[in-house]
Amino acid sequence: MADYAVLVSGNGSNFQAIAEKLAGTKHNLKCMICDRKDAYAFERAKNLGIKTYYVSYFKREREDAEKDICAILEKEGVQLVVLAGFMRLLTPYFVDRYKNRILNIHPALLPKFPGTHGIAESYASKDAELGVTIHYVDYGMDSGPIITQKSFKRDFTESLEEIEKKIHNIEHSCYPETILSVLDSLDKQQ
Ligand code: GAR
Repeated sequence: MADYAVLVSGNGSNFQAIAEKLAGTKHNLKCMICDRKDAYAFERAKNLGIKTYYVSYFKREREDAEKDICAILEKEGVQLVVLAGFMRLLTPYFVDRYKNRILNIHPALLPKFPGTHGIAESYASKDAELGVTIHYVDYGMDSGPIITQKSFKRDFTESLEEIEKKIHNIEHSCYPETILSVLDSLDKQQ
């Protein structure tokens, strides 16, 4: 059994997919932490019955906000930190504390199109294959060792909305699977 937390900034569809798909496993989703008070993810958490925390980054150094997040993670006994649309760059203060225990998902085939517009930028590219990347988090933006990538061939007739939907569907199935296998291996190490 391993305990994990999900960090989000907005919609929270990945958070919901993770919570639902891992619900029957031996691992515990201890809480959802969000840096935006008005995020729709809070509504999802309420419906799912998952504990939430709001941590403000407003007019604060990132490290100060991260100290609050670390205090929550310690209190909750979290072993794995899952970023799911958490749109903040983590400082070395945080990354070093959870080395190799922070996962992120990005809606493009990294190292291409990092940042906040991964889908739109890959859609606008002439790339024949699009997809998603799950990786460990290091000091960079959407960098760090890649765990897995899932790609698909586009046919160039699809709209941005159709591609977006396809990418989110892939995310919702492959992120929970990958998280489960990381949690299983953390569990074995204990
Ligand atoms: C997801 O598509 C995720 O890959 C992306 O934010 C979205 C969050 O959606 N993350 C990044 O772009 C990280 N650079 P969600 O809140 O509905 O899960």
